[in-house]
Amino acid sequence: MIFYFSATGNTRWIAETVAAALGDQTADIRKTDPESCIFGADEMVGICFPVYACQAPLNVQQFARKLRTNGAFTYVICDYSNFVGHALEHFNREVLPINSGYGLLMPDDTSVLGMTYDDEKSTREKLKTAPERLAKIIERLKKREDHVFDAYEGPDPDAYDSLADQFYANAVTKPFFVDKARCIGCGLCAANCPVAAIAMQDGRPVWVKDHCYYCSGCINNCPKEAIGFGDKSKGVYRYTWQKYNG
Ligand SMILES: Cc1cc2nc3c(=O)[nH]c(=O)nc-3n(C[C@H](O)[C@H](O)[C@H](O)COP(=O)(O)O)c2cc1C
Ligand code: SF4
Ligand code: SF4
Repeated sequence: MIFYFSATGNTRWIAETVAAALGDQTADIRKTDPESCIFGADEMVGICFPVYACQAPLNVQQFARKLRTNGAFTYVICDYSNFVGHALEHFNREVLPINSGYGLLMPDDTSVLGMTYDDEKSTREKLKTAPERLAKIIERLKKREDHVFDAYEGPDPDAYDSLADQFYANAVTKPFFVDKARCIGCGLCAANCPVAAIAMQDGRPVWVKDHCYYCSGCINNCPKEAIGFGDKSKGVYRYTWQKYNG
């Protein structure tokens, strides 16, 4: 089984590609009860996630802490746009012991933060090279290579260890707003928020929690670009994997 969380589609593509190559199945972490999953020692358990502030997103950490892998070969593929810091080591040490962990460079999706590290050109370049890099990871998974931690940690990984605490403390939802004239009330934003921070009220989204993950899912996936985030998201390019692979 390959569990994944994906806000803008990169990780979902990775999980589905690996599943197709290994003859495995995928499950969206948002819709799966980890305590209902039972594995045998001869199975493989994959966990795929986007790196947030040099760690696994908190919902992925909470999910994986409840998994009982029963000696199954357990691996991580994390995707990222720049570098992962100690995300893999942190996962192995603090969340769930893994046999192997890989990183895959993918397009950036951080529109909520008012900047993206990629434009359309660099996005296309990353998407062009990703399949070949993923194929190499799949070959190593097929061999069940053990004790592997293979991801670009960045120029100063120790310096990023405190990023996650700062990031979640500052991730307040107050600046989110919806352009009611554009919104068609489809409910996609509320249905997919990983922390249930959005509720539909009178057919329009309302942010009902003070904090969220800034995953970009609501902003980037809205079919009408009706969601904004203060002044920061104005004119910012909103990435989704689907837009390039529709
Ligand atoms: C809140 C947030 C934090 C992120 N933090 C990092 C990071 O620390 N390092 C990095 O290289 N990329 C970071 N990214 C980029 C994503 O990990 C990357 O774009 C990922 O492929 C998105 O996956 P998805 O499309 O499955 O959601 C961050 C993105 C978001 C939205
Ligand atoms: S995804 Fe966009 S159009 Fe759909 S309900 Fe949310 S804001 Fe409105
Ligand atoms: S409210 Fe925050 S966590 Fe929820 S989908 Fe939007 S950016 Fe992601």
